[in-house]
Amino acid sequence: FASQSSPLPSHNPSYRDDEYADVDWDSLGFGLMPTDYMYITKCCEGQNFGQGQLSRYGNIELSPSAGVLNYGQGLFEGTKAYRKENGGLLLFRPEENAIRMKTGAQRMCMASPSIDHFVDALKQTVLANKRWVPPPGKGSLYLRPLLLGTGPVLGLAPAPEYTFLIFASPVRNYFKEGSAPLNLYVEENFDRASSRGTGNVKTISNYAPVLMAQIQAKKRGFSDVLYLDSDTKKNLEEVSSCNIFIAKGKCISTPATNGTILSGITRKSVIEIARDHGYQVEERAVAVDELIEADEVFCTGTAVGVAPVGSITYQDKRMEYITGSGTICQELNNTISGIQTGTIEDKKGWIVEV
Ligand code: COI
Repeated sequence: FASQSSPLPSHNPSYRDDEYADVDWDSLGFGLMPTDYMYITKCCEGQNFGQGQLSRYGNIELSPSAGVLNYGQGLFEGTKAYRKENGGLLLFRPEENAIRMKTGAQRMCMASPSIDHFVDALKQTVLANKRWVPPPGKGSLYLRPLLLGTGPVLGLAPAPEYTFLIFASPVRNYFKEGSAPLNLYVEENFDRASSRGTGNVKTISNYAPVLMAQIQAKKRGFSDVLYLDSDTKKNLEEVSSCNIFIAKGKCISTPATNGTILSGITRKSVIEIARDHGYQVEERAVAVDELIEADEVFCTGTAVGVAPVGSITYQDKRMEYITGSGTICQELNNTISGIQTGTIEDKKGWIVEV
């Protein structure tokens, strides 16, 4: 790897433990802001990843014939670290990301780190970049674990070597709308995933194909695109980068994870919180026609959080939804973000202290 070698931050801290990076925390969005260190380790096919190392954030060197460059053998994850009022740093269900990476690695014929290794590497990355974790209430440190087939291949085959890497960036709102409601467009010309494909795993190859529809929708003033199932075009799937929920009265519905839907950790957590709060939650096929009757629609994702949807346009018909105070979306968002940031007691054991 071409990244600069440097002493580990714990051996030679160039900043005080209580120091913040020089960032205008009030203007954070979801753009990349490089931080000090990244975590890297490699392994050969059929072997286990060894303990990795922290190195200065920087470019990595790849063979032109790396599996990830030629055949898209790559996975990514997303999770966040939060700073508590007392300065403590928290991770939210990081072992769920580790499990999802393992599941994805099986599907993509890749080696993967153990759950403990994954969580330990996340902690190391957070500690090394501690000064980039935003102050309480100003955002979080987004952590991006990558699993890449970095060994050389020419014929189509699994790469002979894999790299597990984690980098970080401080972030706040994902959408340019900030916390304002999103306006979605139901996409009928492109599909996100096909039955028995890879829609349920976080392979890098699921994401470039959604760019075109997203760009077209944004040009027309929409926030993002909502996909339908590729078989019947009758049921909701998900938005380019997040899951979707609809609410009618006390009943909340979301597409079941049937193979084409990404099993979001925020999705899973919101379902559990909603049930605890007395809502009936159904994971099932949700017909696009149900958008007409819904009271509320919202999106969930690590990057996105729990984001209200103000309108959805389907076949030139614009449907509008309740947003703002007193909504289910706001209630669930307040609860999950309270748990994540340590202001609501974590009764479920979801929080891991760094
Ligand atoms: C996340 O929510 O963490 C994701 O990985 C989605 C990504 C497209 C930003």
